[in-house]
Amino acid sequence: MTTPSPRLTVIGTGYLGATHAICMAILGFDVLGVDVDPVKIERLRSGEVPFFEPGLPELLAKALDSGRLRFTTSSEEAAEFGDVHFICVGTPQQKDSHAADLTYVDSAVESLARHLRGRALVVGKSTVPVGTAARLTELVQRVAPAGTDVELAWNPEFLREGYAVEDTLRPDRLVFGTDSEWAEQQLRAAFAPVIAQGTPVVVTDLPTAELVKVAANSFLATKISYINAMAEVCEATGADVTGLATALAYDDRIGGRFLKPGLGFGGGCLPKDIRAFSHRAEELGVGQAVAFLREVDGINQRRRARTVDLVRELTGGELTGVRVTALGAAFKPNSDDIRDAPALDVARTLHRSGAQVTVVDPAATENARRAFPELDYATDAMTAAAGADVVLLLTEWTQFREIDPHAMGEVVGRRRIVDGRHALDPAQWRAAGWEYRALGRP
Ligand code: UDX
Repeated sequence: MTTPSPRLTVIGTGYLGATHAICMAILGFDVLGVDVDPVKIERLRSGEVPFFEPGLPELLAKALDSGRLRFTTSSEEAAEFGDVHFICVGTPQQKDSHAADLTYVDSAVESLARHLRGRALVVGKSTVPVGTAARLTELVQRVAPAGTDVELAWNPEFLREGYAVEDTLRPDRLVFGTDSEWAEQQLRAAFAPVIAQGTPVVVTDLPTAELVKVAANSFLATKISYINAMAEVCEATGADVTGLATALAYDDRIGGRFLKPGLGFGGGCLPKDIRAFSHRAEELGVGQAVAFLREVDGINQRRRARTVDLVRELTGGELTGVRVTALGAAFKPNSDDIRDAPALDVARTLHRSGAQVTVVDPAATENARRAFPELDYATDAMTAAAGADVVLLLTEWTQFREIDPHAMGEVVGRRRIVDGRHALDPAQWRAAGWEYRALGRP
């Protein structure tokens, strides 16, 4: 017997939730997007995606036109409307600790549960410390008028910013952490079009589903820090980490993805996820098992400091009054997200050391300006580079990779470039008269 198509709500309309809500409506479901922020809801209702995500504005317009997607700030309306409720709110790092802040998850789940009067499934997608789902199950069933008729499941998301639409419509895999056959059937119905494409489904218990996400992100962070650790060794020996990474990548067992050396990882996920995971593992008495994650974090932070050192080396040790152009502010290309962005960390450290820093980014300038008004901002790379003593490539946007070194050489004060992302061709830049430096390269 097939389960009828469930009506879906998506609670929390940030990067994850807005993308999920829009894509589910595109796949043919009736979807209600919910957020406590009335401004965000109004923008979404009027067809505006409140953040930069390629392809998403077009799909939002299409979903709104179809009549299958609506938005509200009312959790009561959500409870009445939905059969399956996806929890997509943020779990940032706590202010004074490495632990995840679960206030948003708790409050989203509780305000929904208060109004659940019939059989329903609440599905967590947010990244949480293992054990959260068990605690939330108890909370939901205690608070909901429908009691144990409400069940909880976990379905971690793996979407990458910049590729969020693709990752939602055609994910590598679906993970369903469930406590019952009924919950699994509901999830299968809620993802029927995705499963029909042949997407693998891993059905498991709640703690395993919670762990999959942090385990995946820890692995990715470790792989990046591994190659960046090799870059540190290269720096001490005159070896070239780029050649090393290329040679390693030909080994199928290693592979080349997430093996790009440079300034390291940032963003709203990898850094806080590995810290929250370490913290949780310690609480569980298995801190030693993931003690290496502290080292992974340490290697990653050192890349930022080392990039500042490269600038210092180029300017003969003095940073006061040095004019620096920072190409990039976002934590990675194709995103306007500046959370824990390595680029801005470097720009701010240089500024604090007395340099005059001008930042340029195709999408993240407004976010960066709001967070760090003390930095200067330009609207294009050439204007930003006018009179510069050193240019730094910090986020590898295509338009920065394609900069003509001759043209930029005409506007700068000194032809000195630090390639923080190993994204430029050193031969080409050197031929144009530039002093080229990159971490882990002679
Ligand atoms: C990540 C995970 O990939 C995703 O599955 C999860 O759901 C959320 O976290 P995202 O934060 O969008 O996604 O970024 P991702 O594309 O994974 O990049 C993370 C960081 O690593 C970026 O700062 C990027 O510049 C850096 N990186 C990536 C490297 O430094 N080297 C690499 O080889 C790859």
